[in-house]
Amino acid sequence: MTSRYSFVAKEQIDVFHRRADQGHHRRIRWLMSDTDCWWDPFKSIGDIAVVHVDLIPDQGREAEALAWLDGEEHSRWQRFQSPVAQRRYVLCRAALRAILCRQIGCPNESLAFQAANHGKPFALVDGLPASISFNVSHSGNHGLIAVAPTGRLGVDVEERAPRRNLENLIEGVFSPREKAELESLDGCQQLYAFFRSWTIKEALVKAYGKGLSMKVSELEIPEDMRRGATRCICQFSQIPDTAWCLEDIGTKAFAAAVAHEVSPPS
Ligand SMILES: CC(C)(COP(=O)(O)OP(=O)(O)OC[C@H]1O[C@@H](n2cnc3c(N)ncnc32)[C@H](O)[C@@H]1OP(=O)(O)O)[C@@H](O)C(=O)NCCC(=O)NCCS
Repeated sequence: MTSRYSFVAKEQIDVFHRRADQGHHRRIRWLMSDTDCWWDPFKSIGDIAVVHVDLIPDQGREAEALAWLDGEEHSRWQRFQSPVAQRRYVLCRAALRAILCRQIGCPNESLAFQAANHGKPFALVDGLPASISFNVSHSGNHGLIAVAPTGRLGVDVEERAPRRNLENLIEGVFSPREKAELESLDGCQQLYAFFRSWTIKEALVKAYGKGLSMKVSELEIPEDMRRGATRCICQFSQIPDTAWCLEDIGTKAFAAAVAHEVSPPS
């Protein structure tokens, strides 16, 4: 089936960044749309590439994407209860396959995925764990895929749609200090700050891989970042011996954040 290979032949761009902490160059390559890819380069952060995935309904794309999935992914796609969940999954997973195949340099058929203890997916090539970091998030019509050569990596995106139970969510997710700051805001400002902080925390727990089995209210976002800084390097007592780079990559259309493990000094 030609569509299974079509993404390998598409024009690519190379995004090249210096790893300041290690003093060497690593290449992150991704596909640039020359025809009808539904994903596009969104942002580069050091050696991390973030790709935006367009999740608007499109039967042609969904059919093409489905043809790239393996048997296990196909069964998972069938188990989703709603067409919206199916669409998000298939469009993000096929884009992820295209990006990882290009980056690793393997055919689609060699690539498979497994999930770690708390559900975080990792890639296998011909049955062996691939040496690449990635994470995926989707919300509404937007998906984000972050890819890096090494280091634990998390990404989260949330459309800023009004939430009915905002007070309960604030109660469960934020520290007393964060709560007081959010509660001092009203209306749109509160919603904006809520999603910003939410995505930062979720990117962190996704990078760590334990998801919401962690007590996120105890992972307080550093003050600089709460006050508007878009990037910080920080540590949390719940995650000893690891420093994290947190980056707010939100736009007008959605809140979004990336968390990446900072390499220990060599
Ligand atoms: C993984 C989790 C943290 C994120 O879920 P989510 O926000 O619903 O979904 P997202 O779109 O951001 O991420 C889903 C993707 O994350 C990846 N993922 C799944 N488990 C993961 C884990 N433990 N760690 C990192 N990534 C994970 C998968 O690739 C998944 O996409 P896929 O199933 O299409 O492959 C999930 O555990 C969860 O329960 N979320 C609930 C949201 C919430 O209450 N957040 C509180 C704010 S901090």
